[in-house]
Amino acid sequence: MSKIKWFTDSRFGMFIHWGIYAIPAIGEWAYAQKEWKENEYQGFAKVFDPQKFDPGRLAKLASAAGMKYVVFTTRHHDGFCMFDSHYTDYKVTNTPYGKDIVRMVVEAFRKEGLKIGFYHSLPDWTHPGYADPETPEYMQKKTVRTPTAQEYADFKELLFNHIEQLMTGYGKIDLLFCDYTSKYKDGVDYFDRERILEMVYRHQPDIIVNDRLAYFKDDVCDFDYYTPEICVMNAPPVVKGKEVVWESCTTMNDHWGYCAGDNNYKDAHSLISALMGCVSQSGNMLLNVGPDADGCIGMTAEERLREIGKWFDIHADAVYGCSASKHQAPYGCCYTQNGNKLYCFLLITPVGDIILPELKGKIESIKLMRTQTEVQIIDFWGYELLKSDEERIRPAGAKAGDVLEITLREC
Ligand code: GLC
Repeated sequence: MSKIKWFTDSRFGMFIHWGIYAIPAIGEWAYAQKEWKENEYQGFAKVFDPQKFDPGRLAKLASAAGMKYVVFTTRHHDGFCMFDSHYTDYKVTNTPYGKDIVRMVVEAFRKEGLKIGFYHSLPDWTHPGYADPETPEYMQKKTVRTPTAQEYADFKELLFNHIEQLMTGYGKIDLLFCDYTSKYKDGVDYFDRERILEMVYRHQPDIIVNDRLAYFKDDVCDFDYYTPEICVMNAPPVVKGKEVVWESCTTMNDHWGYCAGDNNYKDAHSLISALMGCVSQSGNMLLNVGPDADGCIGMTAEERLREIGKWFDIHADAVYGCSASKHQAPYGCCYTQNGNKLYCFLLITPVGDIILPELKGKIESIKLMRTQTEVQIIDFWGYELLKSDEERIRPAGAKAGDVLEITLREC
């Protein structure tokens, strides 16, 4: 079995953005977003103490929402390690909280049966060996230092060592999400990606690695999957002439890391529609939560996850193991397909009947999943204007968010 099958079967995961940036509560780019006094930002590490963090509860919530894997920020661009780094003191085990949060997350989510993914930032804004116009220093002061050869070598070594520690100290890791290569480093291999990849695959032969060690370059090896963000693709992306595995990571509001002022949460139907949109183009969705300084994800995020879970209780078959269908979906709907089961997701409440293109004579039966009732094909009324390959159906009582399970005579 291919090592990526669990991923393309799962289709839905939880992203967790969490670090000391939860304290200033303006998102995970906090360190870059305002001018901090010397060591003021780093000082948040001295008070980080999320006593309400309950990874077991969060893992159960993710599982109940239908999520099959988790991707956790082991270190973001601010350089702060959420694990017990052997190589820096700027880490969670040196905070008042004192515990290795990465280990807690791994244990709790593994216990719930979810696959484990690590997000790790390639940029480290606090390291003298990392500099370009996308760093806080430039954003605040419009200056860019040139790292010495030694600083640059130290930077690369630290990155390598951290990833190696994560690959060797936490059991089987299923996925590595590296983030990101700045446009100023586009043409150069700033991070020694082949050395990192060789080490990662040596320790974790079955792991899958995302594309952000280098963007769509012709001279790099193929990555296991591609990561557009906060969007739904109109078609499966093609790289070097080949359709590739992809996942869109998506925020629930407008931030990844906790932002106290951001209550702009998308409703559950929009989030489910985005997930189904991804699956309808053979993609995954990685939906983010950003715990606050106490370790809580907040009522609205929790409510959304529970609503998604309720939808999953009925419609899981329309997601897991499904991919794009070759058939054209009708107005207001999108299709996912698994073998001869074609799932028609209703983006909007139908005005009445739905006209299915290309399916004339190909349908064995149709049912509305929520009510388990049979849906009628209407061949006694209004059919004279249909195209010869169209079938008209009347899904009585169907509304936005419903799924029609269409059993095809053949795939
Ligand atoms: C971007 C952002 C980063 C976020 C990531 C999620 O690269 O810089 O803050 O973690 O997207 O994919």
